[in-house]
Amino acid sequence: MDPIVLAITGASALPLGERSLKLLLSKGYKVCLILSKGAYKVSSAERNINIPIDQLKQELFWRDYLSVNTGELRCYKWDNHSADIASGSYRTKGMVIVPCTMGTLGRIASGYSLDLIERCADVHLKESRTLILAPRESPFNLIHLKNMTALAQSGVRIVPPIPAWYTNPQNLDEMIDFLVIRLFDSFIDDLAPMNRWKG
Ligand SMILES: Cc1cc2nc3c(=O)[nH]c(=O)nc-3n(C[C@H](O)[C@H](O)[C@H](O)COP(=O)(O)O)c2cc1C
Repeated sequence: MDPIVLAITGASALPLGERSLKLLLSKGYKVCLILSKGAYKVSSAERNINIPIDQLKQELFWRDYLSVNTGELRCYKWDNHSADIASGSYRTKGMVIVPCTMGTLGRIASGYSLDLIERCADVHLKESRTLILAPRESPFNLIHLKNMTALAQSGVRIVPPIPAWYTNPQNLDEMIDFLVIRLFDSFIDDLAPMNRWKG
């Protein structure tokens, strides 16, 4: 099975990225994980969690932190431009960026591939592969909206983490699961059981 590239950037919704990783690994997927430089800062500022930058240490960290032994995980540093996933010749199933900052979103929209996340997104666009962004900002300014329009016109799926109440969530974890499952809805099977609207 081709791997899924999962990127987590420095926006205020890191639990969504963490839950995505846990559910993907739990389902046995192979995940290529990239955290932006900003994601490490937000993790330590907002959640008091210091994620190791070293690739091997980080793989062990996630296995322990998420309590998941299944699936395959490879972590990449944000500036590893010579990584396999930086090339279109390396096959992937698709890429999801969750949460996605306005900075990363804007750089992808303008083709400015500064870090590995932006380069990978650029590769997914040029290879016409699935690319899904979960933008996290409020309110959006006109530049954000124009960037999202440009990306949507290029085939990117823009899936903002907007909760629903018809599932009657009992706690934040259930709400997070709903957001993550809907994020991946267009290209893989349900990552966890979900109450879908039945009319
Ligand atoms: C605690 C914290 C929360 C942040 N939340 C957001 C956010 O929700 N959305 C956003 O676009 N930027 C947010 N930022 C700003 C980004 O982290 C910053 O622009 C960073 O340079 C983005 O880099 P990246 O896109 O490579 O992750 C936040 C910063 C901090 C310190």
